[in-house]
Order: sequence, then C-alpha cells, then structure tokens
Amino acid sequence: MRIALLSDIHMSHDGEPIWETDVKKHLYSCVEKLKETNIDIIIISGDLSNDGSISSYELIDDTFKQINIPIFCCPGNHDNIQNLQDTLQHIKYITQVKQNDWQFIFMNSVTPDEFDPNLNKARGYLNEENLTNLEELLLQESCRTIVVMHHPAIEPDGWLNRRLLENRAEFIKIISKYRHVKMVLMGHIHEHYIRYINDIQFIIAPSVGYAFSASLPKFYIDTGKEGFLLIDTNKNTIKKILC
Ligand SMILES: [Fe+2]
Repeated sequence: MRIALLSDIHMSHDGEPIWETDVKKHLYSCVEKLKETNIDIIIISGDLSNDGSISSYELIDDTFKQINIPIFCCPGNHDNIQNLQDTLQHIKYITQVKQNDWQFIFMNSVTPDEFDPNLNKARGYLNEENLTNLEELLLQESCRTIVVMHHPAIEPDGWLNRRLLENRAEFIKIISKYRHVKMVLMGHIHEHYIRYINDIQFIIAPSVGYAFSASLPKFYIDTGKEGFLLIDTNKNTIKKILC
C-alpha cells in the first residue's frame, strides 16, 4: 500500500499567504504531484485550515476534487471541526476505515479553549472517550493498524518540542499492548520526524503550507522545505516530496 501523508496545509479564508508564505501555491503544487503519483490513500493529519473558516475548507475541497482516490483526515488545533465536517465532500473525517487490508483509526487530539469555545488550545490531549474508543477498535479488529492524529506523541528536537500530545505516555502504553498497531501518523510541528517505540513507527509529516526547522530560530520559516510524504508499506520506505 502506498500512502500519501499530508499535514498542516494552513489554508487562509481568502487563500492569501500566511506568514508571507503562499500556502495556496503549495497546496496546488502538492495536488499536481499527487495526480502524477500512484497511491492508494491520502491521509491529512490536521490543520487543513489556518482559521477554521468555511471558505478555507471550500478552497481545499475544490482543489482535492481533481483526485479520485480515498482521502481521509483528522482535525488539528487550527481547524473548526464543525465547519470541516460540514464543508468537505472529497475528504472524510471518520473514526475508522479499512483500506488494502489495513485499518486506519482517526483520533481527535484537539482540546477547545476553556475561555473561547471558538478557539482550540495549541497543545493536544486525548480524552477518556477517545482512548476508550481506540481500545475498542483495537480489540475488534486485528489487522495491521495505523493511528492518525494531529499532535505528536514523540518529542522533536529544540524549540519544536512544545505543545505536543500531553498524555502521550498513556497513549503509547495503550497502543503498545496491541501487536497489530504498526504506525502512528502525526503533524503539527511542520517538520518531518521518525522514531520507533516498542516496534511502532511514529511518523511526523512535514507541512504542506509552511515549514519550520529545529535548527532555525523559533518561528523562522524554512522556505522551500514544504512537502508531503510517500509511505510504501510493502517496501518499507518513506520519501519526502517537496511541494
Ligand atoms: Fe497544529
């Protein structure tokens, strides 16, 4: 199975640049490359929108309608889950799907801000209900499984090591009980990372919209490093494609 893993598109409500970076151009370039590539499924690990606006989701959906393969996502802290679900037609946010004899489980690691219900906290957390659902799905289905969520459950280097999944230790403890969990796909930090914990491959996608780097100062844009991953589960390879 070949998976295209995209993350952090950060589309603005009017398609205008974010942090002086042309996120719309990067999305268009990414979709052009996806059209030329032989893939089975596209996964987007959150922050599709920068502001959660309906118009940003319309722009994204309109771009992805050119691609005729299954596309799934999970929400990120910049997304508005209601607008995302109401607007997207070609990209589905569901709990679980089976594809090519693999199970994909999509988690919601987003926590609403306690002061403003229209905003989310930057850090992530999997609540009790999320973790119970995860265990139920892992008990029900024993085929090879990939868990998708926005916030990293691994710790990246330098200043990127912030606002991660708060209860990552609890999450890792749960999935490590199930030998059929092979991979966790994440986003949020805008740089690509891979780690192995208990034989599970933890993969953070680069950002389609704008890139950061642990080797650059905080919030400096790593221009030209925007991209996505091609994960080949048969060959066990991961390739970064620049947008
Ligand atoms: Fe994020």
